[in-house]
Amino acid sequence: MKTITVFRGDGIGPEITDAVIEILNHAKADLDYEIFDVGEAVFNKCQEYIPQQALDSFQKNKVLLKSPITTPIGKGFRSLNVTLRTKYDLWANIRPAKSNPALDTYFKDIDIVTFRENTEDLYVGKEEVIDDNTIIAYKIITKKASSRIIKAAFEYCVKHNRKKLTCVHKANILKKTDGLFLEIFKDIAKEYPQIQSNSLIVDNTCMQLVMNPWQFDVMVMPNLYGDIISDLTSGLIGGLGLLPSCNKGDEYAMYEAVHGSAPDIAGKGIANPSALLLSACMMLDDLGQINVAQNIRNALNEVFLEKKVLTPDLKGHSTTQEFVQEIIKKL
Ligand code: NAI
Ligand code: MG
Repeated sequence: MKTITVFRGDGIGPEITDAVIEILNHAKADLDYEIFDVGEAVFNKCQEYIPQQALDSFQKNKVLLKSPITTPIGKGFRSLNVTLRTKYDLWANIRPAKSNPALDTYFKDIDIVTFRENTEDLYVGKEEVIDDNTIIAYKIITKKASSRIIKAAFEYCVKHNRKKLTCVHKANILKKTDGLFLEIFKDIAKEYPQIQSNSLIVDNTCMQLVMNPWQFDVMVMPNLYGDIISDLTSGLIGGLGLLPSCNKGDEYAMYEAVHGSAPDIAGKGIANPSALLLSACMMLDDLGQINVAQNIRNALNEVFLEKKVLTPDLKGHSTTQEFVQEIIKKL
């Protein structure tokens, strides 16, 4: 039995976490849970967004299933998500966007995996006020971080029999920073002649993704483009409620939905738990519980296919709980 750490998060976080754990239990996942409230609710009690106990648990278990946390707005607060990614050196953010044939979406047969560098770029959040008029933000690109994410993307292609890897950048303007990322990509590509590789400027990539998304297979890019492009790919498969992700380093792994805490629908009981559920399936795959993950995906697909019980983001009228019970029925 594997013990994992769970953060219930803010907004819709607690609703979708409880939903996912209920499904994992019914699917007989061989897991034990250490569950923590984190985020705003906790801050109001103990002046800390993520209590030390919760961090200790993750440090011990090395695997975290995390619900979205609202980013505090205001001076001196860094995004807690970014903090977790940096603190535990979760350098690879992997976001697979795969169409579900059962769902009624504009685009069909999409299968694009985004590899987002997760520790640097503009996301270091280092901004400097020069004077009343001018503020500078630092964009950091290093050889070390670029090489490891690019290598990981190529290795993923080999392991999962993917044909093509696209490097997304803006090296025409950011000649030194993105230039370095692109140069490293081209170097490493030489070690993988069996994988077709190409590079594309990020603005053109956006247009191409909407005009002809089927040309893409696996993509690798610096942090900020990865943030933006993966929201776009989630739109191609039916929205943020469906896109799972894994943040991985050498030692730790954190699985989370790509979406945020959705304050606009929090507490209404209508959030779609699928993205967090599919993130949990990625976790189960990595923990070697592949059959459990597949059973859950099959049950979810059946519910999607029947189209009787869907949450409002998927054009349905059901609540999170009705959706969860329907998945459990299929298990
Ligand atoms: P959001 O992803 O929370 O919401 C965007 C839109 O998608 C909203 O209309 C929302 O209702 C909808 N949506 C998102 N997830 C859904 C789900 N599971 N089911 C149904 N509808 C869903 O993005 P937003 O509003 O920009 O961010 C809200 C907060 O979340 C911010 O504080 C942000 O910083 C934080 N955030 C946290 C993340 C994390 O913890 N990894 C990631 C992204 C944002
Ligand atoms: Mg984002």
